[in-house]
Amino acid sequence: MQKAILITGSTDGIGKLTALQLAKKGHIIYIHGRSEAKVKSCIAEIKDASQNKNIHGFVADFSELNAVKHLSEQIKNKVPKLDILINNAGIFKSPNSKTISGLDVRMAVNYFSSYILTESIVSVLEKGFNPRIINLSSAAQSTVQKEVLKGKVTVSESESYAQSKLALTMWSFNFAKQHPNITTIAVNPGSLLNTKMAKEAYGQHWSPAEKGVDILYSLALDTAHDNESGSYFDNDKGGYTNAHPDAYNTSKIDFLASITKEICLTIQ
Ligand SMILES: NC(=O)c1ccc[n+]([C@@H]2O[C@H](COP(=O)([O-])OP(=O)(O)OC[C@H]3O[C@@H](n4cnc5c(N)ncnc54)[C@H](OP(=O)(O)O)[C@@H]3O)[C@@H](O)[C@H]2O)c1
Repeated sequence: MQKAILITGSTDGIGKLTALQLAKKGHIIYIHGRSEAKVKSCIAEIKDASQNKNIHGFVADFSELNAVKHLSEQIKNKVPKLDILINNAGIFKSPNSKTISGLDVRMAVNYFSSYILTESIVSVLEKGFNPRIINLSSAAQSTVQKEVLKGKVTVSESESYAQSKLALTMWSFNFAKQHPNITTIAVNPGSLLNTKMAKEAYGQHWSPAEKGVDILYSLALDTAHDNESGSYFDNDKGGYTNAHPDAYNTSKIDFLASITKEICLTIQ
């Protein structure tokens, strides 16, 4: 069955490779990236390599929450339905630690953007067939500090990355509870996969990018994951396992949810 699939951050890395794999199977693919030129060339490249004409694109810089809000409106206007959303866009290294609005840049790109986009386009997902959301977490997860969430303090790159990934995982579990009709799964695609991110952050890799692509492809389409909503798949371990303990702490999740709502309403 042909599915309509949006992959954020699909101009590079495992997002781009997953888009290509899914395009080769004839699905409708929505590419997303922050650079218009890169989105255009990616569409052309994937169309050519897959012989699939149903490749479309959106541009939005996830370090600007207003751009994410605008993207959500575009999707609601232009996309009739979505069966699968892969919240994949992410950064580790960045020339700036803060966004122009003063948020921690990794929190904005890796967490707030996926939150805003997903919560805004639930209606488009609800029109999909057995809709699924895959949220790109990481083995790096660290207790979310309110001051980091609000951009009030600066912590190391690895700490802000790990906090952003735990925030995403906590929200993923909460979203799954609130939307029982959408299968929502958080995944660590594998540590130090051979992509731009791993090269920039560590100058080395442990596994080929295809390890991450294979699990994203499977999580997007395989019926084996039908009953795994609200779970965490750790591809370093090759199966479902527990995320950080905070992801099971209801009061911490409620606290995160309320501060997130407040920040997303006030920050642009
Ligand atoms: N690689 C790993 O070992 C690893 C391990 C665990 C989790 N992950 C997660 O897997 C996901 C994909 O990572 P990857 O390794 O494939 O990284 P990547 O090669 O660096 O690709 C990241 C993608 O996100 C996009 N992106 C970055 N900043 C953005 C912004 N401000 N606005 C919009 N899009 C933006 C990039 O766009 P450009 O093309 O413009 O750069 C690119 O398309 C990330 O969420 C990452 O945290 C990766």
